[in-house]
Amino acid sequence: MIFIDACFGRATSHTPVWFMRQAGRYLSEYRATRARAKDFLGLCKNPELACEVTLQPIDILDVDAAILFSDILVIPLEMGLGLGFYEGEGPRFAQTVRSESDLSHLQPQAFTRTNYVYETLAKTRAKLPQDKALIGFCGAPWTLATYMIEGESSKQFAHSKHMLYANPSTLKKLLAILCEELKNYLSMQASAGANALMIFDSWAGALAPAAYLEFGWQPICEIADFLRAKHPEIPLIVFPKGVGAFLEMLTGNFAVLGIDWGIPMAKARKLVGERFVLQGNLEPATLYDANAMEQGAHEILRAMNGQPFIFNLGHGMLPDLPRENAQKLVEIVHKGLA
Ligand code: CP3
Repeated sequence: MIFIDACFGRATSHTPVWFMRQAGRYLSEYRATRARAKDFLGLCKNPELACEVTLQPIDILDVDAAILFSDILVIPLEMGLGLGFYEGEGPRFAQTVRSESDLSHLQPQAFTRTNYVYETLAKTRAKLPQDKALIGFCGAPWTLATYMIEGESSKQFAHSKHMLYANPSTLKKLLAILCEELKNYLSMQASAGANALMIFDSWAGALAPAAYLEFGWQPICEIADFLRAKHPEIPLIVFPKGVGAFLEMLTGNFAVLGIDWGIPMAKARKLVGERFVLQGNLEPATLYDANAMEQGAHEILRAMNGQPFIFNLGHGMLPDLPRENAQKLVEIVHKGLA
């Protein structure tokens, strides 16, 4: 699998490419399968249908990796917080975690109640062509904690930051609980058939650097150490979004660092390209225009100059992007620079 080779820094015949949120509403096939499930969570919990949407981008785009169709919030869901996704609003939890006593309401061993995830991975790996990789994933402890504390998507993270500065020991306990869950959850995903694993820290950039290193990055490093020892053949990708200003402070025992579109790839390579294989980082909105997209893609390929590298967007595919451009982008990356 050229995707796995690239993750471990081995030379590949072409640059592998996949897109965050590559299975989603911009694909009519996704919308059709989603209509057959009761709702978004129903789709995540149905291995037959989840497998179907996981495979769609492989057939439609010819990307080099499929990513498990699921959501980072299934772990807090299975901790008993009562999750719903509401049209035009995003996720909302029935219960929040705001105090020490709320921690005792969390149901332990959530990772034992996500068999639908492991089944989806096994089914998908069985159907996926041999040369395509399957990526499993989870949310980072800090990002999951923000949803559990706020109860919904947030812009200010007021409750989370209040806990961080006024009640750090409570936040540390919550992060430690999540850390244990996620080690087991990712390990189970590896055993079920994932060839690579990814940790999404979507709200890394919400914290000041010192706070992020202590409350965000440290738990990720702990998960990375655990996985490196237990599954050395499975590369780990970490995507801390919004940390370009202190990228050089990030070290850790994992293979691939995901770069968002807030920092030029040439600069990221200079800062951490010796430490990690890089993945990224085309601004998703360039896909609105084929020329802007091609220019952006070529700039990234030039910056990487044939180094082992994984091409991706700098964040998720948007629901209204034209699929033709996504298809064209895969061709551009596979063709490489003249
Ligand atoms: O990348 C993929 O194709 C795999 C599937 C995947 C989804 N969510 C499916 C999804 C992955 C890897 C995620 C991760 C995820 N989920 C993150 C981290 C990545 C990031 O985007 O920063 C976060 C923060 C979430 C939480 C989440 N899930 C939110 C805030 C929302 C609502 C916003 C939205 O786009 O509607 C979701 C819903 C969600 N997760 C959808 C999909 C395809 C849209 C649901 C639908 O079909 O309507």
